[in-house]
Amino acid sequence: MSEPLKVLVTGAAGQIAYSLVISIAKGDVFGPDQPVHLVLLDIPMMKAVLDGVVMELMDCALPLLTEITALVEEAPAFKDIDVACLVGAMPRKEGMERKDLLAANVKIFKSQGKSLDTYAKKTVKVVVVGNPANTNAFIAKKYAPSIPAENFSCLTRLDQNRGQAQIASRLGVPNKNVSNVIIWGNHSSTQFPDVSQAKVTTSAGVKSVQKAVGDDDWLNNTFITTVQKRGAAVIAARKLSSAMSAAKAVCDHLRDWFMGTKEGTFTSMGIVSDGSYNIPAGLVYSFPLKIAKDGSYKIVQDIAISDFARQKMDATKKELEEERDMACSVCEG
Ligand code: NAI
Repeated sequence: MSEPLKVLVTGAAGQIAYSLVISIAKGDVFGPDQPVHLVLLDIPMMKAVLDGVVMELMDCALPLLTEITALVEEAPAFKDIDVACLVGAMPRKEGMERKDLLAANVKIFKSQGKSLDTYAKKTVKVVVVGNPANTNAFIAKKYAPSIPAENFSCLTRLDQNRGQAQIASRLGVPNKNVSNVIIWGNHSSTQFPDVSQAKVTTSAGVKSVQKAVGDDDWLNNTFITTVQKRGAAVIAARKLSSAMSAAKAVCDHLRDWFMGTKEGTFTSMGIVSDGSYNIPAGLVYSFPLKIAKDGSYKIVQDIAISDFARQKMDATKKELEEERDMACSVCEG
């Protein structure tokens, strides 16, 4: 068996982490042969809850979980980690806009960026989940100059999964038959869920989703707004933000990043832009990626961008530029 991977989960006493840590610890993410040392971080006020999570993890008697370390201080939690799942943040409540959260949350990610820079392995892979996820990832990277930009990501896989599920449901096919739904931009209501490259396997073979659905009005309106507003719909129904589906999406994101995407398919992740598709370099923007087995990735290039798509991609870019500027002034102020 290989050396254990040291995996940090922040916000470990929270609701996403409650679903996430068990999946990581039982091998759903890094495979059945990869032992894991889980490091759980939360704030001091949550220490008792964190201790309860540790008890439950112990009681699962998992063969791959070699060690559990529960902490309420940042520095030791980031020491020598291989993977950082940065979930901890103040969650959005009903009626609250993501921008309201920005000022409070980017400060957390400034501090955690510095801790990554100082204490983590330089090869650490980072997925930011806490909202505003793209901008928090931007800030974490900004304050971790010694870690390569390509090691930073934010979660837009939940949006991709939501889009995939909406298409599968509309066409009456299993989820696994739908692939290559793209999420461009911000994990917010300005995101652009794009089916122009999406495919579906039917009894008649593989078709484009656009042809299979055959209803542009539904695809350009209902589909897009349903995915954009799904998070808010879950909050309205549950009075809590998405947790089980968010945890599942973190696992999908990390598994693809560590194992690679399947031949002919791609996945969306918020990453540091290299300027592709006229998205300013440095902005953390969700792109379609092909990921190799060694974890290196490439943005899928040469996708024809229609005027409709351009306008949507630019709207979410504009929001991210505004968030970035606001976050920088909070962090530098
Ligand atoms: P939660 O409130 O249940 O848990 C958050 C935990 O983070 C709490 O235990 C809190 O004490 C902890 N925390 C706060 N500041 C911390 C810090 N500085 N260090 C370590 N821990 C800290 O929230 P939940 O539902 O688990 O959501 C977590 C975040 O994920 C929220 O920001 C939410 O908006 C976001 N989210 C992102 C999604 C995405 O697709 N990117 C999807 C769903 C939620």
